[in-house]
Amino acid sequence: MTNTYPFLMIPGPTPLPDAVREVMSRPAVGHRSPEFKQIMKRVFPNLQRIFQTKHPVILYTASATGAIEAALSNTLNAGETLLVLSCGVFSSRWADMAKSLGINVQELKVEQGQVNTVEVLETALNADTEKTIKAVIFVHSETSTGALNDVQGLTNAIRRHGALSIVDTVTGLTASPFKMDEWGIDLAISGSQKGFMMQPGLSFLAVGERALARHQNEVKYPAFYFNFTRNLKAQAEDTTAYTPATHLIMALDVSLQMMLDEGIDAMNARHLLLRNMVRAGVRALGLNTLVEDDVNASPAVTAVLPPTGIEAPAIRKVLKDRFGITVADGQASLKGKIFRIGHLGFVGERDVYMVLACLEQALLELGYSVELGAGVKAAQAVAVSKTALTV
Ligand SMILES: Cc1ncc(COP(=O)(O)O)c(C=O)c1O
Repeated sequence: MTNTYPFLMIPGPTPLPDAVREVMSRPAVGHRSPEFKQIMKRVFPNLQRIFQTKHPVILYTASATGAIEAALSNTLNAGETLLVLSCGVFSSRWADMAKSLGINVQELKVEQGQVNTVEVLETALNADTEKTIKAVIFVHSETSTGALNDVQGLTNAIRRHGALSIVDTVTGLTASPFKMDEWGIDLAISGSQKGFMMQPGLSFLAVGERALARHQNEVKYPAFYFNFTRNLKAQAEDTTAYTPATHLIMALDVSLQMMLDEGIDAMNARHLLLRNMVRAGVRALGLNTLVEDDVNASPAVTAVLPPTGIEAPAIRKVLKDRFGITVADGQASLKGKIFRIGHLGFVGERDVYMVLACLEQALLELGYSVELGAGVKAAQAVAVSKTALTV
């Protein structure tokens, strides 16, 4: 590795602000102490602000997959039907998870790089005249492809049918507008190592009234560790049901304050700008993005196809070995076929210039004919014209 500071441009874990990182070296703290309670008294309402909800947000010491399991196991019984909208690795994982819980799965799949449409969803829901579908799960920002689903449109359709909506907004929240209450979302999940600019290890599950009612009245065997009732009872007293990751929560306290200081709208706008800069930059180098249409592109991550004759892993290797920049590989069937540039969390315009400049040089070294500076210039044009704010 070169003598430079290693830099992650993957869609999580994302770079850590010093103020968040510093928390890890603080002395041990008792999780039932009055001092820790004071932290929780800030953390819980601040989480609600980020999800834009008046409903409780359960904080789990688990990665986001744990919180998704919590959502399914607390609101569905084995034998009931879940409709899964699939558009990539993560949405497909939720189908597998539901099957492992004995839940019946109906899946609507689109090609990788595409989004799930309201029309297709509505057709499926209209056909369900017996109302056997009890919940629908979909991913806001499909991290494996960089596709961005229309949360509001999909949620509206689910509402009309009456099923619960479960939204994986693990890389959507903070990057893209997300209005839990205004849009009538029942369950929403995110994780610490994404837009929260934190270490991995915590996940957040916002629980709306209808989801809570289903948990309380319909579900025979909800989980134990992840149990809504147990966790919410503890959280109502500004504590957690079990020993939490205390230092991660202290870091969360810091990162939430940073996020609220920036402001949710400003944070969303920044991510949109970064997305548009990256897309303009790679296009100016003659590269294609997996998600073709800008309106369907995630502000958190951009999947890029390598030019003909150059392998994606070779590009990633030069970026890492020569410049200390890590961009992500493709996942599952896209492994080795694309590279994914994360622009999520504690990331700014400078970081986009850095990755584009290094990408230009990497491509040149690998034998691709590129005009040095073209990608950076295109990104700068976006940044100075603020065109990002119009999409
Ligand atoms: C969209 C999405 N959902 C779920 C997950 C799973 O999160 P975790 O690895 O924290 O369990 C990820 C992780 O990258 C993700 O991007």
